[in-house]
Amino acid sequence: MEASPSIIPAPVKLSLSQGSFSVDKTTRILVAEPLLHAATMLKNLLHDNSSFDITIEETAGNAPDRRSIAIVQDTVRVTEGPEAYNLAITPDYVQIAASKPQGAFYGVQTLRQLLDPSIETTVPVTRADAWNLPCVEIHDYPRFPWRGFMLDTARHFFGKDTILRLLDVLACLKMNVFHWHLTDDQGWRIEIKKYPKLIEIGSKRKDSQVGGYISPKMEGKPHEGHYTQDEAREIVAYAQDRCITVVPEIDTPGHSTAALASYPELSCTGGPFEVFTKFATMKGVYCIGKERTFTFLQDVLDEIIDIFPSKIIHIGGDETSTLSWKKCPDCKARMKAENLGKARELQTFFTNRVARMLQDRGRTLMGWNEVLAADLAPDAIVQFWTGRTKRIMPHLAKGRQFVMSPFFNVYIDHDYVLLPLKMVYEYDPVPKNLPESQHKNILGIEVPLWTEWVRNTRRMYWQLFPRLLAVAETGWTPRASKDYASFKARAEQFYARLLQKGMSFAPMDRVERKWYRSLLPILHLLFEPKVPQG
Ligand code: ACM
Ligand code: ZN
Repeated sequence: MEASPSIIPAPVKLSLSQGSFSVDKTTRILVAEPLLHAATMLKNLLHDNSSFDITIEETAGNAPDRRSIAIVQDTVRVTEGPEAYNLAITPDYVQIAASKPQGAFYGVQTLRQLLDPSIETTVPVTRADAWNLPCVEIHDYPRFPWRGFMLDTARHFFGKDTILRLLDVLACLKMNVFHWHLTDDQGWRIEIKKYPKLIEIGSKRKDSQVGGYISPKMEGKPHEGHYTQDEAREIVAYAQDRCITVVPEIDTPGHSTAALASYPELSCTGGPFEVFTKFATMKGVYCIGKERTFTFLQDVLDEIIDIFPSKIIHIGGDETSTLSWKKCPDCKARMKAENLGKARELQTFFTNRVARMLQDRGRTLMGWNEVLAADLAPDAIVQFWTGRTKRIMPHLAKGRQFVMSPFFNVYIDHDYVLLPLKMVYEYDPVPKNLPESQHKNILGIEVPLWTEWVRNTRRMYWQLFPRLLAVAETGWTPRASKDYASFKARAEQFYARLLQKGMSFAPMDRVERKWYRSLLPILHLLFEPKVPQG
């Protein structure tokens, strides 16, 4: 018996048998028309790096055909939702069965991981055994509908090609949400045609802090970057091809200094402001008393909605200071008119108004957990990142939906000393003691990468890999089937795939907590994590 195939996330059920199927120049893809997209993605995967001229034939029949890879629609045997699939590999044929295109696509991704890592390049792979698929029978479906990754492109800008490369890895790992943090105090990154200064001014800063939140050191050079709407559309289409929803985040009403530097009239004081060059701040806040703030956000969100088909639009809501509101005559007048007792209630007034704007356009608001309030719009989705899980239990009981991204478990901007791989892997998104009937309110897990200290892709990949793989497995694999030792071995094998794609990672001997590396892990919050040279 051969070693068990190395697939991340681990499938729900897998049985391995003797023998293999070889993809070669006689292989054909047979597909039922509704699943054609998955067939095209498979053809590209097999074609880009081989000399095989693999053809796709549309067929209504489900009978396996010799030498073919058949992608069949099956709503009788594959019943665990749109992302479920069965994969059967025999010496004679391969069959992927799914009820929906997403499931068929994930069947293709599993097949991809069963092929040799060398197929991840676009260089022709001539070694025949690279095209061998082990005989398996797999029955697979996800634990959670939301398996997300967030990238902060505001603190540091990363170009389109980096994002596309990440999206392809996310798809390979069966992750289905790319949460794109597009604005913050340190930069506005998405072109808004009606407000050109957001790019002319807001996408540029004079310098950047280096060394950590309390460091006086500056990098000594300006930083800038933005995505045109065309680039954003290209990213959305590329993600859509890989069953990934791009959820854009326009952070409001705090974390808004880049917008206020561009349009200071949106603030309580009128400014002036500069795009921040340091990272620990809570100052840039839109004025909630002035109507022009809502006009601006309506216009911005209209353009965002036009670019991003996602049903869910993220409006941030985190770390908003109420200081300027307390001193502002317009905000005070708003509190009076709306009968609000505390300045903090202005945030709920604001969030609910934006939620209505989005509802009117058929979209749903999402925010970080600071948006939580008893009277928050009932359909708003909350991303939990800080505070005690206990606090969200009453909201879960009332049916509020949550995505889980707790700071101490999945904030992978932290050093491995503070957040070792095992701790990420062992985190479970369903709070202990949550009644079974409410488990459905936990939509899933999302791993954010904040980039205050991530200035290049080498650092990015170091922070991401292997921890992203751990989150992918938590999002998909049943809790009872998770096994850390098995995961680690498979993650190490996945590294070969990353290398083929020109990506790097943290070696496995660097990702565990070792007492001698630090007796005070918490200090690592204050200093920039280090990536060894070499
Ligand atoms: C956050 O980390 N401020 C959501
Ligand atoms: Zn104000």
